[in-house]
Amino acid sequence: MKIVLFGKNGQVGWELQRILPILGEVFSMGRDELDISDLDAVRNILNELKPKLIINASAYTQVDRAEKESDLAMKINALAPEVMAEAANKLGSVFIHYSTDYVFDGKRDTPYTENDPVNPLNVYGESKLKGEENVQQAGGAYLILRTSWVYSLRGNGFVNKVLGWARKNETLKIVSDQISTPTWARMLAEITNFVIVRNNANLLEIIRERRGVYHASCHGYTSRYEWAKQILANDPARTEQIVRSIEPALTGDFPTPAVRPLFSALDCTRFEKAFSLQLPDWSSILKLAMIR
Ligand SMILES: NC(=O)c1ccc[n+]([C@@H]2O[C@H](COP(=O)([O-])OP(=O)(O)OC[C@H]3O[C@@H](n4cnc5c(N)ncnc54)[C@H](OP(=O)(O)O)[C@@H]3O)[C@@H](O)[C@H]2O)c1
Repeated sequence: MKIVLFGKNGQVGWELQRILPILGEVFSMGRDELDISDLDAVRNILNELKPKLIINASAYTQVDRAEKESDLAMKINALAPEVMAEAANKLGSVFIHYSTDYVFDGKRDTPYTENDPVNPLNVYGESKLKGEENVQQAGGAYLILRTSWVYSLRGNGFVNKVLGWARKNETLKIVSDQISTPTWARMLAEITNFVIVRNNANLLEIIRERRGVYHASCHGYTSRYEWAKQILANDPARTEQIVRSIEPALTGDFPTPAVRPLFSALDCTRFEKAFSLQLPDWSSILKLAMIR
């Protein structure tokens, strides 16, 4: 099977480019190979390569910067996925796309299902929601996997930031009023791969039949404060930490350009039932992530 993967250098994309080659010939693209804000270039490469599977792990994910760069965020998160979905439909191929818990306004206190009303609070969430709508409108065989608080042990995401702060500060203040589900990028890549492998014999028909939006994160939820505490408790080099106290703070203590939903955990029952799998608890996956 010929596969095109966009976003190969991102948290999820990097994990995907490692595991997808078992499925066939993979054309993995990062920004250096193709800038997806160039919509014609996206269309042309897909028409040229004619893949059977297109996976979009690229996105404009700078939540605060998006408030000032809404046109670019919209192009990358809404228009590029539309072009990919249209190309997939035209070519008779499968399209897998990722979206976010930030499509919700966070005013609930129980996990959101796919049927709950969306109401993004920031430009990033709006652009991702528009992307979902555009992909759905294009039709064909697509999956939109909404996930939350994606982390990786590569790069400068939350986990590595907390590990770094704990080596430089005796006191850490971490917000305790933002709640969602940490999701390891490798786990997300592995469940994506699982869905493809499990249905490989009849992928196009099965995905067309089950197309739609699915929530795909770990089970359970927590605050950033509790998450940080667990990151430090699972730090394989704890002796390097100088931190003595971790204190809860409020979102309002750290003003940011973008408003974030306070509660955005996702109920993944629909995904688990549709693809016959059991998603793990976020804390057990964090332990696994920290020892790898
Ligand atoms: N991170 C989270 O907490 C989170 C939460 C919920 C949902 N999601 C969704 O999950 C998916 C994967 O997220 P992630 O955390 O893996 O994101 P990420 O690490 O920020 O990776 C996104 C990738 O997209 C690439 N990209 C951005 N603009 C591009 C452009 N114009 N042309 C080509 N490539 C471009 C980036 O390239 P550069 O490396 O060159 O910038 C980066 O490698 C996204 O759909 C995201 O919206 C993420």
